Amino acid sequence: MKLLVTGGAGFIGSAFVRRRIAATDDTIVVLDKLTYAGNLANLAPVSDDPRVAHRLEFVRGDIAEPDDVRPLVGDVDAILNFAAESHVDRSILDAEAFLRTGVIGVHVLLEAARERAAKAPIRFLQVSTDEVYGDIKEGRSVEADPIAPRSPYAAAKAAGEVLARSYHSTFGLDVVVTRGANTFGPYQYPEKLIPLFVTNALDDHELPMYGDGLQERDWLHVDDHADGIGLVLDRGEPGAVYNLPGGSGRTNRAITTVILETLGKPWSLVRSVPDRPGHDRRYAMAGGACEALGWTAKVPFEDGLVETVHWYRDNRPWWEAARSGEWDAYYERQYGQRLSESVSA
Ligand code: NAD
Ligand code: TYD
Repeated sequence: MKLLVTGGAGFIGSAFVRRRIAATDDTIVVLDKLTYAGNLANLAPVSDDPRVAHRLEFVRGDIAEPDDVRPLVGDVDAILNFAAESHVDRSILDAEAFLRTGVIGVHVLLEAARERAAKAPIRFLQVSTDEVYGDIKEGRSVEADPIAPRSPYAAAKAAGEVLARSYHSTFGLDVVVTRGANTFGPYQYPEKLIPLFVTNALDDHELPMYGDGLQERDWLHVDDHADGIGLVLDRGEPGAVYNLPGGSGRTNRAITTVILETLGKPWSLVRSVPDRPGHDRRYAMAGGACEALGWTAKVPFEDGLVETVHWYRDNRPWWEAARSGEWDAYYERQYGQRLSESVSA
């Protein structure tokens, strides 16, 4: 197959590209805007390997620009849309880019797919998130549950997937949607909980834990997430939505404990800071639909977390380079005041 992978220079998209190229004969065109979170180094294991590099093409561009998208869709068998602004805290500071990429960008891709579908079959896979279900007090979300996003990030993701599904019901476009759980592993931009806490701890900097740290997420290793998306691409039913749970519900405190123990760093680095507004307390999903296709998460959480901590310890040049540019200004805006009001955790 020939695939168009948008956002393929980001964390999960690049894992998909690396694993798909290794596991199949597919060729892949990556379309990525290279925002602060996009990084060509994430694709280097493919682009620097002469055995497979010819099966990857990289194009810098914006999914919200029809002129960037249209020329790439004419001969592909599927579009996988990973491209998004992906950090909840940034969506609270300024949501506009989330909407532009998450709604207008998805629309541009869907229109291009519709044009292509008039001539040859094409599948559209929208990468969505468990955050569209909102705060789950108890039990596990199933695909038929109503969605109730509570952050601007989650609202933009919900809008994107609902729009994609509307193109299935209205135009018969072959659309599938995945809702992945909180994902962790190597090459994640170091602003999210796990890589932020690992890299801060490596430098003996404070770890800003929101509120009581008892919020719970269902953690999924990036390799499992990428493989789940691949399976839905290959076997998913047109029009269907697939949860991709990690099966590893953990509180932020429990994760922080493993990170500090792995690095031999003290708990005194952890500071309780004023909470994120609208902070969802818990996400949890059931994965029956994907299990029926033959997928479950395989990487045991603590093994994957220790391996991830070691990866950041051993790849300092990668994360220091990723934090060039606007990082210091972002960090100050997000954490400056919070840390000045922090208390021991
Ligand atoms: P990421 O921020 O690491 O990567 C996003 C990529 O998209 C970057 O390479 C960026 O340059 C690119 N991009 C952003 N806007 C673009 C645009 N307008 N045009 C082209 N490229 C653009 O994010 P990630 O963690 O890899 O997430 C990938 C997808 O998976 C997102 O859709 C996200 O919502 C979804 N998701 C993420 C998680 C998670 O825990 N990280 C969980 C479930 C679902
Ligand atoms: P995050 O990695 O931002 O993912 P999401 O909000 O999409 O689930 O956050 C994971 C959890 O960690 C969430 O409960 C918020 C918390 N968190 C902190 O306590 N401190 C931080 O500095 C960050 C970034 C997150």
